[in-house]
Amino acid sequence: MNATTTSTCTLESALRESAPLVLLLETGFTKDAAFREIDRRCKGILAREAKRRKFEGRHDQEVIVQTHGAVAPPVVVLIGCAANPSPRELFAVADRIASVAKRESAARVTVVPAAEMSADWLRSMAEGVGLARYRFREFQSGAKPREALSLRFVTSLPRKVAGAALREAGLRTDAAFLARDLANTPAGALPPAELAARAAALAGGDLSVVVHEVDELTRLGMGALLAVGQGSRNPPRLIEMIYEPASAPAGHFALVGKGITFDSGGLSLKPANAMELMKRDMAGGATVIATMHAVATLALPIRVRGYVPAAENMPDGNAIRPGDVVTAFNGKTIEVLNTDAEGRLVLADALSYAVTFAPRAIVDFATLTGAVRVALGRRYAAVMGNDQGLVDDCLRAAAAVGEGLWQLPLVDEYRPDIASQIADIKNTGTEGAGTILAGLFLREFVGDTPWAHIDFSSTVMSEGYPAHPAGPSGFGVRTALALLADPAATARVAGAA
Ligand code: BES
Ligand code: MN
Ligand code: ZN
Repeated sequence: MNATTTSTCTLESALRESAPLVLLLETGFTKDAAFREIDRRCKGILAREAKRRKFEGRHDQEVIVQTHGAVAPPVVVLIGCAANPSPRELFAVADRIASVAKRESAARVTVVPAAEMSADWLRSMAEGVGLARYRFREFQSGAKPREALSLRFVTSLPRKVAGAALREAGLRTDAAFLARDLANTPAGALPPAELAARAAALAGGDLSVVVHEVDELTRLGMGALLAVGQGSRNPPRLIEMIYEPASAPAGHFALVGKGITFDSGGLSLKPANAMELMKRDMAGGATVIATMHAVATLALPIRVRGYVPAAENMPDGNAIRPGDVVTAFNGKTIEVLNTDAEGRLVLADALSYAVTFAPRAIVDFATLTGAVRVALGRRYAAVMGNDQGLVDDCLRAAAAVGEGLWQLPLVDEYRPDIASQIADIKNTGTEGAGTILAGLFLREFVGDTPWAHIDFSSTVMSEGYPAHPAGPSGFGVRTALALLADPAATARVAGAA
């Protein structure tokens, strides 16, 4: 999967190895100890080249210096890097490091940071380089496996601290890769049962996985999930993943992810171009599955339950019709006016089911509305919720890992737009604000449980930006992991029930 391995080394050993050396430098870099040492051994060519190319340590600058045997590394690459980079600036540098490896066809690269860097910096940089090297080649005939890269960092951090940071970075990168792989996989190869099988394969240790099939969904009364799936030859599933380390506090966090393995729109059929990429409509589910896996491999000290309602939204003779009424798990009836607003239907069942286990908080991830892209564009997803503290925790977590997240209001005045004449609620409105309306709809299924809803139809695909090669972005995995590792999350699940 993740073909980047990481370790630490000393500058001395790096200078004895014939791997390209990347020197990250800030403004005023001529005083940098590593720069001076390498420059001395290379008889001043570093300083000369930097001057000739007007390198000033700005983050968009890069200079390649051939060492001609003065030291073992064949090239030293000078890259500008701010002293306290934002996650996104840091990923831009990570991208450059990944391209150095590619350009030089190097199996190993050594990175020498400017000054001493924190464990957080080390983790994010390792993560960024790993994420930047993602490729999906499973469906290319004769494709070779990704060439491995051994990435070494010169650091004086204690071995244990650096080792833990790099291990975490590796596991988080693996998790994002898993989410990207699932979203890349064609819908024909990933029907609900297969998505469930992929999740079930991750069970082990403190992580258990239960897959509910149609009989069980019927018994449970998941009328909305069943309705969305009834037009497909591939029956729906509810994937339930439970991570329960014995030593963790009794309360738990719940994650819910939309798992529509293909969204044709159903009888409210999408036009051809809008359907092209609808294999990725299970990306929210992928976020939850990958996060659950990472939570378990990282052995986070917090109980987490993940739920993925998986269905294929197809039109056939048995498909749900516009105007049909379905009954959700919590007994609420829904008038389905548009079968293409199917995400909120499957989430209605999954959210109200998750609530019965009394989580201290629920966060859902869903590619729910095209409208969020109109509102926020390609780099920001929307978050809404009934608990400002939880929404704030989500915003903070996303900012910490460089994922764009922006809050939208759940406007009570818009609620009448989804009042139904004949059922408890209807699944679409007519007055605009599509993303907010979907949020208002979901709110009806969480009761009083603190809940946040993340609609990332906008950011699910990358058009190619730092650490995110064009294709599925893996959005949400790193935000969810940051959220669950935050002391605020532990505080939520601690305390008396
Ligand atoms: N899966 C789509 C949302 C989507 C659109 C995701 C574009 C990624 C890119 C969702 O099920 C959908 O079809 N939503 C409708 C809702 C409408 C019918 C109220 C939409 O946004 O058009
Ligand atoms: Mn749809
Ligand atoms: Zn959808």
